[in-house]
Amino acid sequence: MSTTDRELRVGMVGYAFMGAAHSQAWRTVNRVYDLPARVRMAAICGRDAGKVADAADRLGWETYTTDWRELIARDDIDIVDVCTPGDSHAEITLAALAAGKHVLCEKPLANSVAEARAMTAAAATAQAAGIRSMCGFNYRRVPAVTMMQQMVAAGRLGTIRHVRAVYLQDWIVDPQFPLVWRLQKDKAGSGALGDIGAHIIDLTQFVTGQRISGVSAVTETFVKERPLPTGSSGLAATVDGSGPATGQVTVDDAAIFLARLDGGGLATYEASRFATGRKNALRVEINGSLGTLVFDLERLNELEFYDATRPAAEQGFSRILVTEGDHPYMSAWWPPGHIIGYEHSFTHQMRDLVEAVATGADPAPSFADALQVQLVLDAVERSARLGSAWTEVEPALAQVAV
Ligand SMILES: NC(=O)c1ccc[n+]([C@@H]2O[C@H](COP(=O)([O-])OP(=O)(O)OC[C@H]3O[C@@H](n4cnc5c(N)ncnc54)[C@H](O)[C@@H]3O)[C@@H](O)[C@H]2O)c1
Repeated sequence: MSTTDRELRVGMVGYAFMGAAHSQAWRTVNRVYDLPARVRMAAICGRDAGKVADAADRLGWETYTTDWRELIARDDIDIVDVCTPGDSHAEITLAALAAGKHVLCEKPLANSVAEARAMTAAAATAQAAGIRSMCGFNYRRVPAVTMMQQMVAAGRLGTIRHVRAVYLQDWIVDPQFPLVWRLQKDKAGSGALGDIGAHIIDLTQFVTGQRISGVSAVTETFVKERPLPTGSSGLAATVDGSGPATGQVTVDDAAIFLARLDGGGLATYEASRFATGRKNALRVEINGSLGTLVFDLERLNELEFYDATRPAAEQGFSRILVTEGDHPYMSAWWPPGHIIGYEHSFTHQMRDLVEAVATGADPAPSFADALQVQLVLDAVERSARLGSAWTEVEPALAQVAV
């Protein structure tokens, strides 16, 4: 437990999947890490009074409200944690920053480049007044992924030649799966591309330290019309089969693209919700002139490493179990070899955010980093519309006409 008296009071908007994952992390972070501030789970917000009251009780929040504007107006909130679908990220975040609140916003940062640019500009203005912003690309904080980044930065792979990244799911293979918000462009911005493709874009740019400069893409919507949901509109949505009501799917079901990295490497990316049997399969392989690193989320405590500098007779892939005290984030958890899971990445995210806010540092990924991901999503969509034409990723700084 931290010995500090400083409190950071959190107000979280949204209480379903990410709301629960973030709550778990906010509850845990001071119990695991010794930090310069203590988190107080001050308020949670959702639109349905009964459900948000239940969520506050279940997830451990002191108070609740049904209006995020009320949450932001409160003097006793320091950090606003945005866990809603993408169509409300910009509005909530811009209001929170304007009110002087630090912001953690879930990924993808926004539903469009224009929104992401406005959010990044607001974050830069707020930063000058000591206000911090961070986007929730939590996979960066799986210890094996952080370690991958450290090994690449230390030159262990030499020059990066290839990145091969896939993020595969299968939850909408059934054409009767309902039209949840993730399948509607006005709510989600894009489909598999922005939901899971965004994760592998961020992860690979983070690990390699290189940005995607151009893409050639295909996207597809395999099932174009689906029944309307009757209950929850989250991943566990249901249909009751009682009516003919259906609606159009307005996002991609799958997106595949090849890309150039600005450091000279070639990369391929695949994001799909139609990879039958693949539930949440994120795998990244990076080949460099001196070696290869492989990460597989289904074995998230491990890293595969091929070190081409070893004597030829000893070469081969080795498996590093990333659970030692000197591995990233691990010293505060369990004895060596005692593995961790998905939810720990969120605790690590909150740890880094609390430390940054309390010490006056800027957390990563910044909104500018997340804007870069948004620009790649946009280039992929433009390329797909143009029959896979080669498409440059727009620069993050808007071109100024001269
Ligand atoms: N980091 C990750 O690994 C990860 C995983 C899943 C989702 N996400 C992101 O998290 C965000 C939320 O996704 P989810 O899966 O938690 O969705 P979800 O459908 O499970 O939950 C969304 C929540 O937002 C609430 N909400 C929606 N509009 C609101 C509004 N105007 N005011 C107040 N509450 C509102 C809903 O009531 C619900 O509680 C999305 O941006 C998504 O891309 C990130």
